[in-house]
Amino acid sequence: MKSSVGLEALSVYVPRHFLELKTLAQANGVDPAKYLFGLGGRRIAIPTPAEDAVSMAVEAAARLIENYDVQKSNISLVIVGTESGVDAAKPIAAYVHGHLGLSNHCRAFDTTHACYGGTAALRMALAWATANPRLDQKALVICTDIARYDMLSPGEPTQGAGAVAMLIGHEPELFTLDPYPESVYTREVMDFWRPQYRQSALVHGHLSIDCYLSALESTYRAHLAQSGLRWEDFDYLLFHVPFPKMAYKGFCKLYEIEQSQRSPARALPPLESEFQKRTQPALVVHAEVGNSYTGSLYLSLASLMESGDSDVAGLRLGLFSYGSGSCAEYFSGQIGADAAAWRGKIGISRALSERVEIDHPTYRDLRRASEVALRGAPEDVAEHRSTHNLKHIAFYGIRDDQRVYGPVSEAARLTSGERTNEKTSGRA
Ligand code: COA
Repeated sequence: MKSSVGLEALSVYVPRHFLELKTLAQANGVDPAKYLFGLGGRRIAIPTPAEDAVSMAVEAAARLIENYDVQKSNISLVIVGTESGVDAAKPIAAYVHGHLGLSNHCRAFDTTHACYGGTAALRMALAWATANPRLDQKALVICTDIARYDMLSPGEPTQGAGAVAMLIGHEPELFTLDPYPESVYTREVMDFWRPQYRQSALVHGHLSIDCYLSALESTYRAHLAQSGLRWEDFDYLLFHVPFPKMAYKGFCKLYEIEQSQRSPARALPPLESEFQKRTQPALVVHAEVGNSYTGSLYLSLASLMESGDSDVAGLRLGLFSYGSGSCAEYFSGQIGADAAAWRGKIGISRALSERVEIDHPTYRDLRRASEVALRGAPEDVAEHRSTHNLKHIAFYGIRDDQRVYGPVSEAARLTSGERTNEKTSGRA
């Protein structure tokens, strides 16, 4: 058995519906080139009311447990990194723990710092596993979020949603973080926020880009200084991806830092070829899904591993995690040596191939229905409940100030006209 800790399993959930950015641009009266080339997106995932941060987290985790044949009794820590909290007191991790049917001998809580929340969860889980003498115990880390901005706002074309589940333990066949001193960064800024009374985020977009790049420069320089690694040591450079062009801007920043330190004889190959080689392969999924906030960086990792398969086995990655507000970290790690450990189990290609396009009026309807789900009784949103790719639980709505979740089959039954309340389950 290996002595290090790291990722033993990785699975994702992506909503079933997508909106073409071309369609959004036409509806908003914007030149489509701005969304497609200016921001680098193509499509954005649009969740139904049934797909909230809880049901997406449960789905990603349930798929992980099934696909990797994980023994539930070994999971003794659940941390959910999210900025889509559904309650000021009860964490999403508690719902996930209950719906997965995990052991009571388990700790469960959420971590929040905008898009950095997932990395905070991962770091805590790794530290916990390292300190835990019980080598059979595992931690489940889940990143789950819905990126929602006001309609017609600059952030609207960068929306998205999704969840990524990771299992942390002592047999890290998928990915291990390098054991260098941590390169972290915190600076209080007002670049992006979501007051508790709002469903959609507010953002000083251009400020957030500047904050992201400053944090990137600071943490990258610190990571190189502390690790002794060099540009050539990173086979791929992954970034937090609020929109694909942001990762390009981040890549340009690192390239500029590198070039400025080199003599002409050691100059890097041209920027575009380096970007295509080291970062672009991990961005394809983001152009399809949009921003998944805490899951974004780990969606890059999942996508790279799934699409590269055995070609990426054993490679070293540099990873940049940024959360507005702000907190950031640069770290590096190595993909496992044997692609058979994750082949066919991550689930991105399958999720993308099962999606369906919606038109702009349907997008508007789904937004409205999601708002109704947060105010109305479960019966009020029944008609939207079966149009998703959830298999385990669906969000039904609110009753008696409690969120109500239930089996997907029951949601479908309600949709077909049988509007009864009896079998819906509300877990308080
Ligand atoms: N054709 C091609 N490109 C176009 C274009 C057109 N017709 N019109 C604009 N563009 C380009 C701009 O030149 C710009 O590219 P650049 O950044 O490389 O210069 C890009 O499209 C965006 O245009 P801009 O005018 O800056 O857009 P905006 O003011 O509407 O807002 C964001 C852009 C990113 C700030 C906005 O989408 C946002 O607030 N997003 C959410 C916050 C976020 O994701 N922050 C990132 C850090 S976490």
